Amino acid sequence: METGAPPDTRKVAVVTGASQGIGAGLVSAYRRAGYAVVGVARSVPLSDESDYLTVRGDITEPETAQRVIDRTIERFGRVDTLVNNAGVYISKPFTDYTIDDYVAITSVNLAGFFHLTQRTIPQMLRRGSGHIVNISTSLVDQADSARPSALAALTKGGLVAVTRSLAIEYAARGLRVNAVSLGVIAPPARDPESYTGLAELHPLGRLGEVADVVAAIRYLDDATFVTGETVHVDGGQAAGR
Ligand SMILES: NC(=O)c1ccc[n+]([C@@H]2O[C@H](COP(=O)([O-])OP(=O)(O)OC[C@H]3O[C@@H](n4cnc5c(N)ncnc54)[C@H](OP(=O)(O)O)[C@@H]3O)[C@@H](O)[C@H]2O)c1
Repeated sequence: METGAPPDTRKVAVVTGASQGIGAGLVSAYRRAGYAVVGVARSVPLSDESDYLTVRGDITEPETAQRVIDRTIERFGRVDTLVNNAGVYISKPFTDYTIDDYVAITSVNLAGFFHLTQRTIPQMLRRGSGHIVNISTSLVDQADSARPSALAALTKGGLVAVTRSLAIEYAARGLRVNAVSLGVIAPPARDPESYTGLAELHPLGRLGEVADVVAAIRYLDDATFVTGETVHVDGGQAAGR
């Protein structure tokens, strides 16, 4: 009779930008939901627990993406959800952006998405299912002259567009691709003074919380008839004023 460990049937989530903020909140939420989680960031604390593996690295490098996917498969055998959460945001008048700003924003927001998503999709196709979630900002829909951020629009708008594109390319093969578009989200560890006046940007009159983002992403995970969608988690910001 065959012995040995039963196959691991736990779902597996890979979360980039896991060292702080929304990404750290997502890691906790997925672990609470019984997932095995792989957290990725340059400074994420090392972990090799039974339900939480971290991979330190710069997601702008293809080598990091390869290491993330190799270690995920070796350790947990599958990927059910990839959350492309790592991101860089710099608000400046357009002509003040430096080449370093341009490289930092495009390499994390776009190349980081590209390298890891490209290596994750074959693993999802192998099992005929998987869900990719990209994180955008409602400044893409509702530009704000007080907060010029053209490079956020360029990169995060690209993520919204590629969300639809990949959703259609892979729908018939069992994969779903969605996005969440955020208003100002205040992680608990941040200095409350840095958010003065920002609640007013949202018609609902408050800042977003990490829990609001987690709820939307977990909804999308469970929403098996939803793909190519961008859910606004922005207190009404994109809808108008
Ligand atoms: N918070 C908001 O109000 C808001 C609003 C709209 C959209 N968003 C989007 O939501 C996402 C999360 O936001 P957040 O506020 O939680 O961001 P955050 O606190 O600035 O954290 C960014 C995360 O990305 C990681 N990261 C940055 N560059 C990286 C690189 N080269 N390689 C690997 N990891 C890298 C950071 O980790 P290391 O530094 O350790 O590498 C960190 O874990 C971002 O995509 C952001 O654009 C946030």
